[in-house]
Amino acid sequence: AQRIIIDTDPGQDDAVAILLALASPDELEVLGITAVAGNVPLELTARNARIVCELAGRPDMPVFAGCDRPLRRPLVTAEHVHGKTGLDGPVLPEPTMPLQEQHAVDFLIETLRREPEGSVTLCPLGPLTNIATAFERAPDIIGRVGHIVLMGGAYFEVGNITPAAEFNIYVDPEAAEVVFRSGVPLTVMPLDMTHKALVTKPRNDAFRALGTPVGQAVAQMTDFFERFDREKYGSEGAPLHDPCVTAFLLDPDLFTGRHINVEIETVSELTRGMTVADWWGVTDRPRNATFIGDLDSDGFFALLTERLARL
Ligand code: BDR
Ligand code: CA
Repeated sequence: AQRIIIDTDPGQDDAVAILLALASPDELEVLGITAVAGNVPLELTARNARIVCELAGRPDMPVFAGCDRPLRRPLVTAEHVHGKTGLDGPVLPEPTMPLQEQHAVDFLIETLRREPEGSVTLCPLGPLTNIATAFERAPDIIGRVGHIVLMGGAYFEVGNITPAAEFNIYVDPEAAEVVFRSGVPLTVMPLDMTHKALVTKPRNDAFRALGTPVGQAVAQMTDFFERFDREKYGSEGAPLHDPCVTAFLLDPDLFTGRHINVEIETVSELTRGMTVADWWGVTDRPRNATFIGDLDSDGFFALLTERLARL
């Protein structure tokens, strides 16, 4: 199994990404889940991550709380999308499993130093603050990371927090810059592509038809989460941004992309957090990321539904 650390700010779509990973133990060994401030403040993301682990029947999963604000800016949150708790929709019990005492950044550093070089994949699903803080504090771990597969950025059509930027990168562009310049092999799931992973009515019905607490909760989460995208983009359902990361690890053939240069805008306020992606290769800047442009959405939902059925 691939060994992964999920860095996350749940978030209904983060929750589904975590469920997909925990439903796939043959392929993915989750070493720990690190929470970061993003969609909602840290206290809630650390709570929500534990709610999701308990929903998946994994109260043994180590969950760590990390950074409570971006490297150099005040926190921007997204209750307008995810609701007051970040996980609005289903009614789920407060978690009883413990939050680890260790700080998420210390866990990242310690784990990467301990595990064989190149054997750990990082899966960031929120602002990149925890990862960048770990890289800045312990540069020796950078070369030990095997791969980073992250959800973030936008290029072809839309931003969702400003016209130019996607939320995760916008919230902490300085952290994103550290990660995009780190030299670690990077695969990026940008917004325009994740907008094709849409929970249409029949796909939502398929979750509900699982007849399990997990199927029910996922259907209710996506019901809640879709109203934002319906209003803003007229889309026919909720986009499952973050589960694209987990699905990529399980079946990379569902995705196509290009290995290109991607730079992060940190200076301009107008375009703060923009992922300037050289899709057409018009510069000779070094290629630092595989930018995913398309996915097989039917294949993605078939995989997701089949895996959720296992929980
Ligand atoms: C990203 O921002 C968050 O709102 C979602 O959880 C996802 O990670 C989409 O822009
Ligand atoms: Ca997220």
